Parts: sequence; structure tokens; C-alpha cells
Amino acid sequence: MPDKLSSIPDEWFNRDFAEQWDKTALAGNHTRAEHLDILLSIVSKEYQAGKTILDLGIGSGQIEATIFAQRPEADIVGVDYSPAMLELAQKRLGSFLDHCVIIQHDFRDLEKLYLPQRQYQIAISVQALHHIPHQNKLELFKYVYRILEDDGIFLLSDRIAIDTAHLSHLYITLWERLEQQAQIKSGWSGEYYLQRLPQKADYPATLEELLTWLREAGFHASCLYLQMDRTLIAGIKNKTSRTTK
Ligand SMILES: C[S@@+](CC[C@H](N)C(=O)[O-])C[C@H]1O[C@@H](n2cnc3c(N)ncnc32)[C@H](O)[C@@H]1O
Repeated sequence: MPDKLSSIPDEWFNRDFAEQWDKTALAGNHTRAEHLDILLSIVSKEYQAGKTILDLGIGSGQIEATIFAQRPEADIVGVDYSPAMLELAQKRLGSFLDHCVIIQHDFRDLEKLYLPQRQYQIAISVQALHHIPHQNKLELFKYVYRILEDDGIFLLSDRIAIDTAHLSHLYITLWERLEQQAQIKSGWSGEYYLQRLPQKADYPATLEELLTWLREAGFHASCLYLQMDRTLIAGIKNKTSRTTK
């Protein structure tokens, strides 16, 4: 464990950083596997052939590889600003690239984001939006609401801001429990994990903020899953409510 914490930038444009992230995506992120499993089970069940899934922050294509394994007919449009990550996605997705349009674009410049004309049924975003400032998050939620078809689903999985000023002792216990159960150990103590968070050059929002902005954008939004500082939120764009049979 490093004993001195300095600012920890994410260097998505650096090829070595991108390759390293891709190889170690589960390290120090003990809940990623479970969050992805839940998100992917929803996508696999809800996806309607012929429609399109939009991934905001497709990165190295790890999630698409699983979507195509479960639903090989899926049609995906993925957006990300990092050429290094997109290169990895292209290598990973190989023959599925016929079903996957990749667009290099920065979410902070939505006015110039032109997506192919499709029926966007599902939008997903995993561990990407905490990298953009809050105002851009709200604009992006409005954009996603606009492009989704009626009954479209937005699944947002991300790291959120937590109240470490008042609840740090409780979060330390949660981290240590996760670390103990993890197959891939980080070697970090709970104190180290919490001290590291504000050093990161990013903009996590609280769960309440994300839900508020999603609702402001027009979605019916709820938190589906929450573990410590990682959440999975669903937003639905519908005019009518659904009843279970
Ligand atoms: C932690 S990775 C997650 C990748 C993928 N969603 C996954 O979970 O496997 C975050 C991704 O967000 C992308 N990203 C960060 N800021 C961005 C921005 N302003 N515009 C577009 N993409 C961005 C990065 O390039 C990176 O690929």
C-alpha cells in the first residue's frame, strides 16, 4: 500500500494506463462483478431484438463481450472519448463489430454528439459518469431521455459520493468486510480506501443527486442496488405504469 497519497488522475488517453485498467478492472472494486451481473441479467432479459443498446462509456468493451455472449443478435452503439480504450474494445469485440458502432466523443460536448438513427431501447453507463462534472451529468440524462424510445430503460452503475465526514467508521467496516470476502484482494485498509477517494480527480455525485437529476430529466428512477459507494440505478421513460401479472 503506498504510504503517501497524491492526486490520482485517471489517464484514459494513456495506452499503458488503459491496458492496465482493462487487466485489473476488478482490483480494488469488490462490487463490480456483482453489479455487472445484475445489470447484464436485466439487459439480457429486457433487450428486444432489432432495437439498440447505447453504452455511454463503452471503454474496452468488457460489458459488450458479455452482452454478445448472452444475446449475440444485440445491436449496440458505444460512446467513449478515449482512443486507447476504444482500441482495446475493437480488439476484444472482433467479429461482433458488425453489430457494434463505436463513436469517439466527449460527454462534455453533447451538442456535437450525433448518434446513428436507431430505436434506442436500453441505455447503460458503467463507472463512467463520475468522470464528468455534475452539470454535464444532468445534460447527459436529458439527452438519454430524449433519444430513448417510450418504455426505454436507462441503467446507470457508478461510484457515488458518500458521507465520509460523519460515517467514516461505518464505511471502514463495510470496506473491510468486502475486502475479506473478495477473491481479488486490494491489500487496502478501510482507512486507506476512504483517504484515497478525495484524491481522485473525478466528480462522484451522491445517490440522492443522481436520482434527483434523473427525475428532472423525466425518468422514473430508483436505486436497484447499493453496496457502500457503488450503486446501480434504473430510470424508465414511460408514460404509463406497468402492473405485474
Ligand atoms: C472505468 S472506465 C469504464 C469502462 C466500461 N464502462 C466498463 O465498465 O468496463 C471509464 C470510461 O469512461 C470514459 N470516459 C471518462 N470521461 C469521459 C468523457 N468525458 N467522455 C467520454 N468518455 C469518458 C473513459 O475513457 C473510460 O473508458
